[in-house]
Amino acid sequence: MSLKRAVITGVGHYLPDYVLTNKELESYVDTDDEWIRSRTGISERRILKEPGKATSYMAEKASLEALEDAGADASDVDCIICATVTPDYLFPATAALVQKRIGANNAFAFDLSAACSGFLYALSTGSTMIESGRAKKVLVVGADMMSSILDFTDRTTCILFGDGGGAVLLEASDEYGIVDYVHNTEGDEACMLYQPAGGSIKPASEETVKNKEHFIRQDGRSVFKKATEGMADVSLEIMERNNLKAEDVAWLVPHQANERIIDATARRMGLSREKVMVNISHYGNTTAATIPLCLYDWKDQLKKGDNLILSAFGGGLTWGAIYLKWGK
Ligand code: ACO
Repeated sequence: MSLKRAVITGVGHYLPDYVLTNKELESYVDTDDEWIRSRTGISERRILKEPGKATSYMAEKASLEALEDAGADASDVDCIICATVTPDYLFPATAALVQKRIGANNAFAFDLSAACSGFLYALSTGSTMIESGRAKKVLVVGADMMSSILDFTDRTTCILFGDGGGAVLLEASDEYGIVDYVHNTEGDEACMLYQPAGGSIKPASEETVKNKEHFIRQDGRSVFKKATEGMADVSLEIMERNNLKAEDVAWLVPHQANERIIDATARRMGLSREKVMVNISHYGNTTAATIPLCLYDWKDQLKKGDNLILSAFGGGLTWGAIYLKWGK
C-alpha cells in the first residue's frame, strides 16, 4: 500500500466588513500612520463589530467556503481542528460550535492552541490523520478575533492585530500535498507574549480586570528578534532537508506579523519578493488566520505541483514550517 499524502482540496476565508485604519487608531493612542506602516507594513485591519458574533462565526463562514471550494459535503468531514487563541468560550471548543453550525454531523472536533503557529500545527496534525488512513476529510481552520483581547489604549499592541478566519479541507492524494514539517516550542519564554489572566492560574476577578490582565502583553522587541531568527531558521531547515533550492520554491507563505520579519525570512531563503505572499497591509496580524488568508488571496495564482513553504512564529513560543506540493 503506497503512503498517502494530505492535499488541500478547498480554501475558504472570512473577513469582517469593518476596516480599522491607522488614521482611526491615531484617535485612540499616540501613534501615526507613517510609524505603523514603516515599522510593521500594516495600513488597516478588519474588526468584527457585530454583537453576538465571534471567532466561531468567522470559522464557520471560512469552513463553509472551503467545503464549497472542494465540492465536499459537510457530512463527509471526519474531523475539524480549529486553531485559535480567542475561542468563543474557554470550553466548549470553538470547533464544536462550528461542527454543529456547518452540519458536520459525523466529525469529531477540537481546538488547538499554538498562537500564531496554530494553523501550521493544526495542518500537520490533520495531515497525519489523512496519511494514516484514519480520516478521509479533515477541515483545518485558523480563526482569531484578536480585537477581543486588545487594549485599545496600548499603542505597542493594538496597532498590530486584526480579526479574520481561514480554512482548508484536507483529503488524500498519491502525488501532491504535505511532504514535511518542522515544529518547535520554547516554553521557557511563554510569558514573552501572553494573556496573563482568564485561565486557571489567574481566574477573572475585579483585580485582573482593573489591571487589564485580560489583554495581550508582549515584549515586542524580544518577540521581533526571536521571530526573525526562528522563521528564517525553520524555513531554511525544511528547504535543506528536502533538497530544495530557492529556484525550486514557488511561494513562501509566511505568517503575517510584521513585514520586516517576512522580508528577513525571504532574504535568508534567497527568495525574491515576487515569490512571497504578503497581505499584512490590509489585514494586520490575524494570528491563526494569516496563512489560510494568504492561501485564499493567492489561490488563483497557484499551480498544481508548486512547491510552497509555509512558515510561522508566535506565542508559546512556537514556530514551524511546512513544505507542501500544491495539488488543486
Ligand atoms: N506608535 C508610535 N510609537 C510607538 C508605537 C506606536 N504604535 N509603539 C511603540 N512606539 C515607540 C516605543 O515606545 C519606542 O519609543 P522609545 O524609543 O521612546 O522607547 C519606539 O517607538 C521604538 O519602539 P520599539 O519597540 O523598539 O519599536 P520596534 O521597531 O521594535 O517596533 C513592534 C515595535 C512593531 C511591536 C516590533 O517590535 C514587532 O513587530 N515585534 C513583534 C511583535 C509581534 O509581531 N507580535 C505578534 C505576535 S508574535 C508573532 O506573530 C511573530
